[in-house]
Amino acid sequence: MNRSVSSSGATLNHKKRPIPYVVAGGGGKIRYSSYDVLVIGGGIGGLTAAGGASRRWNVALLTKSSFDDTATFFAQGGIAAALAPYDSPVLHLRDTLTAGDGLCDEAAVRILVEEGPERVRELDRAGIRFDKRRGQLILGTEGAHSVPRIVHAGGDATGSVVAGALVDAIVAGSRVELHEHEFVIDLLINNGRCVGALSLGKEGELTVSFARAVVLAAGGAGHVFANTTNPDVSTGDGQAMAYRAGAVMRDMEFMQFHPTAFHGHENPTLLVTEALRGEGAYLLDRDGRRFMVGVHPQAELAPRDVVTRKAHEIMVRDCTDFVQLDARHLDCAHLQKRFPTVHRELARRGYDLCRDLIPVSPASHYFVGGVATDMWGRTSIPGLYACGEVTATGVHGANRLASNSLLEGLVFGERVVRDLERYLTDSDPSVCKIKLELTHESREGNDPEEVRHMRQHLGIMMSRLCGIVRSADGLVRAGRVVADMKSQLRPLGRHPEELELLNLLTVAELMVLSAAVREESRGVHLRSDFPEHDHDWRRHIRLVGGADGAPILELEGMLEGEGVAHA
Ligand code: SIN
Repeated sequence: MNRSVSSSGATLNHKKRPIPYVVAGGGGKIRYSSYDVLVIGGGIGGLTAAGGASRRWNVALLTKSSFDDTATFFAQGGIAAALAPYDSPVLHLRDTLTAGDGLCDEAAVRILVEEGPERVRELDRAGIRFDKRRGQLILGTEGAHSVPRIVHAGGDATGSVVAGALVDAIVAGSRVELHEHEFVIDLLINNGRCVGALSLGKEGELTVSFARAVVLAAGGAGHVFANTTNPDVSTGDGQAMAYRAGAVMRDMEFMQFHPTAFHGHENPTLLVTEALRGEGAYLLDRDGRRFMVGVHPQAELAPRDVVTRKAHEIMVRDCTDFVQLDARHLDCAHLQKRFPTVHRELARRGYDLCRDLIPVSPASHYFVGGVATDMWGRTSIPGLYACGEVTATGVHGANRLASNSLLEGLVFGERVVRDLERYLTDSDPSVCKIKLELTHESREGNDPEEVRHMRQHLGIMMSRLCGIVRSADGLVRAGRVVADMKSQLRPLGRHPEELELLNLLTVAELMVLSAAVREESRGVHLRSDFPEHDHDWRRHIRLVGGADGAPILELEGMLEGEGVAHA
């Protein structure tokens, strides 16, 4: 690994070498199409960007699975925005900076909290059925918010209501070509510019989609770990393909674990929304004691990383693998109305939210790190934009504030649309069509059983060595395991499972590397060997693939000011 320190924080250039694609042509037929804008990902960022861009441009959207299989669709909590008369963007800014534990980019957060309310009002005006009482939005509370400001829909079904409405609007406008079950393999780069993407269809057929601009909105990477709240699709594909293409990555050490995922045997696990604690639910240890009281002034509503750490500590102390969520003292009729999804899903698993203690434990939930972008969603590669969870815009610092993620997708998705106007208006109107240099060997690929086994092993290993608690020793071992697994992978065939494994390994490699370099504890990154904040680490870590494929690491300059850290 190469390492350099930059005081400007913006100097890493993506490589200019030709980039080998990870699949072979294998002699089969390849489909070609071209657009002004190609959007990759069907969550809130992708839908916002596609819907907006289609008002003027010829747009296609590719999503790996279906529109009801995205992290957005499963989002329970809601969208945070300063809409109430008692609230303001300044308050929302302060809460976001505090939750971010001294590592937020304040300018980016300002944009988020100042533009957020108007984006939410637009959805409201467009007829999205947010929960209301007497015509007024009902605003919920979640961790680390100083006032109720979470807009929700269908009680705890915000994601499906919002995503469903955005998809319906796009379908009704019929100006976006929608392709479900189209797995994007690699971005196409020509002369340092992104000119489209190569994707794999359901039947194993390859498609080349050329575009004047590409918007990457491919979501998170929760499946790097053994337990996650993320849907099956969240395998770090967007981060990995951007890295392979030479994009600068940022903050890759920060994976947020949600403290209250249902503790069962399934993966993904059911999220038991933080909004329940917002309504007054408690967290109890094995002996029924509220373990957050006295740990943080906001108790169960402390920033998410604080709650996760404490829950983890309690589980270790008590030799248990879960803690308990207690909503038994709350009004049952209200719980059923406010949390229909959680109530129903728990019942399917044999638990009554009104009467039972619910076993919960931390699970990977949100990837704070990702593709570095500026305030307009521009990545380091001209023609490549990114928005949503796949990015690291700096709004989340070292720990995301609850319900700021859908907001980020909305705000930065819309900013991408605005910048596309500028970019596409000024740039060459023709679509650049390049000759694809796919190798023509026919590949058998990897044994599916072996792929499954490696993926399982990766998750367990990452949870143990690069999960909630990390140390130099563990990270060295994790790095070795990841390198070993990568070297065992034979050249890929055309199976999504193989591509996912490669992408997970790529993200894991970068995560371990950044986690080893950050010798402090901050936000979601807890080092047992460096348990304190270190003021000199108020800086971001960037990574980019070098000419030999090995990551080059760069430390950005220190952030200005003292920064707001947790209590
Ligand atoms: C939740 O509903 O607990 C999750 C909300 C979020 O991740 O912001």
